[in-house]
Amino acid sequence: MKTIDIIDKIENTHIASKPEFAYLLQYITDEELEILRKKAQKTSLEHFGNKIYIRGLIEFSSVCKNDCYYCGLRRSNKNAVRYRLSKEQILSCCNTGYKLGFRTFVLQGGEDAYYTDDVMCDIVKSIKSDYPDCAVTLSLGERSKESFKKLFYAGADRYLLRHETSDERHYGRLHPEEMSLENRKQCLFNLKDIGFQTGAGFMVGSPYQTYETLAEDLLFINELKPQMCGIGPFIPHKDTKFKNEKKGSVRLCLTLLSIIRLMQPDILLPATTALGTADSKGREKGILYGANVVMPNLSPVAHRADYSLYDNKICTGDEAAECIKCMSGRIKSIGYEIVTDRGDYKIRKKDDKNVQI
Ligand code: 5AD
Ligand code: FES
Repeated sequence: MKTIDIIDKIENTHIASKPEFAYLLQYITDEELEILRKKAQKTSLEHFGNKIYIRGLIEFSSVCKNDCYYCGLRRSNKNAVRYRLSKEQILSCCNTGYKLGFRTFVLQGGEDAYYTDDVMCDIVKSIKSDYPDCAVTLSLGERSKESFKKLFYAGADRYLLRHETSDERHYGRLHPEEMSLENRKQCLFNLKDIGFQTGAGFMVGSPYQTYETLAEDLLFINELKPQMCGIGPFIPHKDTKFKNEKKGSVRLCLTLLSIIRLMQPDILLPATTALGTADSKGREKGILYGANVVMPNLSPVAHRADYSLYDNKICTGDEAAECIKCMSGRIKSIGYEIVTDRGDYKIRKKDDKNVQI
């Protein structure tokens, strides 16, 4: 099959086979990529118009019990500066964010045992009671199904947990032995089952990744059908064993964004900070290739640099107000606009009313 036929197949049937995905990713020409991009952009415009959802990211803990080989927050990184935000500090970030028009707060942190179910549920309940019109997204790593349930009943609406790679062998080369792809996938199915709007995702260009493992990622997305999918290029961190590896390709990341938009037209797809770090216009490009979400940083500036997943992360010195202003400008420059909206996942059918879940 020719690459252009694979693009048509994905557009029409929302899926392709593993060899077809791998072939497309490897051989797509610049002209074909532009055709794919236009289809993806048209699809996201049909579903979301020129409106971009914003999520306020609050990086509340840089402590992590895990030791993922690619991540600057890994426990064995003795140079990492560790911090924890109190409930009051988190609420203060929400207060700033609310005034700036954010209606979703994303609480992201390392796997930090300090934030037990009780501590986390209390934080979630406080945010939901102070800001009943806002959504709370959690990104706290792997937890038991019971724990996920408690967080859901405390009021959390969404959960982000990137699967990182859906290939067993590749997973094993990115993580120490105590972590397993099986458990990670199970967490994702549990989250969906409980009723969370669930986000999976993966890095592009992580060490040992191949076109085949990426094709496997696309098949997993098709199997899980998450409401959100976060993808961004791998960027080396100086204090990890991947410090000398090369960073992921922005072009390949954009190609994947467009493919995922065609596979799941209504998926919430962020143009990630990693994409904006790898390319100064990365987030704008992400939107033009089918993304419809951006996640500006609401964390206190004093701690920004310490949430160091990878080197040279952008927006580490900017107050939330500056960040959102910069972001609005960037988005306007490509003909889109930021909206003050929770931006929930909606199942949309053409000519039908929006159905919200
Ligand atoms: N480069 C790019 N992304 C990274 N992440 C962690 N480390 C890196 C890195 N070096 C991503 C992972 C994780 C998310 C919070 O950040 O995909 O799920
Ligand atoms: Fe944060 Fe530009 S989006 S400074």
